[in-house]
Amino acid sequence: MDIHTQRQHFPALANKIYLNFGGQGPLPTPALTAMMAAYEQGQIKGPFSRQALTWVEEQEHLTRQAFAQCLQVAVADITLTSSTTQGCAIVLWGWPWRGGEHLLLSDGEHPGVVATVAQLAQRFGLTWSTCPLSDPTVDPITVLEQHVQPHTRMLVLSHVLWHTGQVLPLTDIAAFCQQRDIRLLVDGAQSLGVLPLDLTGVDFYAATGHKWLCGPAGLGVLYIHSQYRDVIQPTHCGWRGLQGFRQQRPCWSDDGQRHEIATTAWELGAGLRASLALHDAWGTPVQRYERLVQLAQDLWQQLGDLPHLTRLLPEPPRCGLVSFRHASIPPETLAQQLEQRNILVRSVAAGNCVRASIHYLTDQDELTQLVRALRELQG
Ligand SMILES: Cc1ncc(COP(=O)(O)O)c(C=O)c1O
Repeated sequence: MDIHTQRQHFPALANKIYLNFGGQGPLPTPALTAMMAAYEQGQIKGPFSRQALTWVEEQEHLTRQAFAQCLQVAVADITLTSSTTQGCAIVLWGWPWRGGEHLLLSDGEHPGVVATVAQLAQRFGLTWSTCPLSDPTVDPITVLEQHVQPHTRMLVLSHVLWHTGQVLPLTDIAAFCQQRDIRLLVDGAQSLGVLPLDLTGVDFYAATGHKWLCGPAGLGVLYIHSQYRDVIQPTHCGWRGLQGFRQQRPCWSDDGQRHEIATTAWELGAGLRASLALHDAWGTPVQRYERLVQLAQDLWQQLGDLPHLTRLLPEPPRCGLVSFRHASIPPETLAQQLEQRNILVRSVAAGNCVRASIHYLTDQDELTQLVRALRELQG
């Protein structure tokens, strides 16, 4: 399908150059329509009735199935969450820690996850440290070899680093961890909906539907490898995680649902599923990735011709994030100046850079306009 026809489903793309998919994706009209229809159905069937409850359970199952398909894993291994950070927190707080154990993080993790690890370490008497995986010139496995400690129990890292856009070699890292009996928790906020996923060897993967998948905010996903289903203790949990919660002696569900908590806006799932169907109608995950990478590499190439800019990656990007610095304009100011020209990018303090998120929905002409604006903004 022609990209211009596809873009017409996204009202937010009509009046601006939108390059903030890594922050939040725009909602397509079919997603808005599906959510409205779900809310209406809820009112017709209930909202609180046996009929409505059965329907809600069916809807949630469909959403788990949809996420399972995206992640290429079994539905039983899926937990619905509200965000990437919540998914990471379920694993971090649920793992049976022993005092003195160590967590290793990359130096490019999102502040919410870092804060959780710091809090966890304080409460359970653990230690944690970071390793320099955001240096694009180093071999990630060599760095990991240098930084794991005898008591390292878990490695926490992002599949795609949110400031530089580096794609970490997940399969190699998973094998590295398996050889050392280290559990691997992957933050997939910047990879779900970007890369075709292969989670072989990954123990835990947390992500969200509201960025690259263009689903509604408030609906995320956590994958827990079945081997650890009974190891991760339900911690931040509630009635939705129980089997037969109306029975006198309830027990936890025997699948990923055990970590779900309570009443939620399940209508969001209808929106996410509509977004996914729209992406699939345009092309396979591989076709979407190929288009997005082509566009991102093209932009990276063109930025290389602007002497007042420095690209964060020395090699062409392998995902949709393209980050750069201006020789004299601070990132936040540059992002503001671009926004005044109706071009939406963001500054990322952690990388002291401006980040453009390139989606398969991005139009080549939008990148031409971004490059033109950056050429004019010489400082
Ligand atoms: C790598 C990474 N992790 C976590 C987050 C936070 O995502 P959420 O709000 O879904 O928890 C982001 C969002 O920007 C991110 O880029």
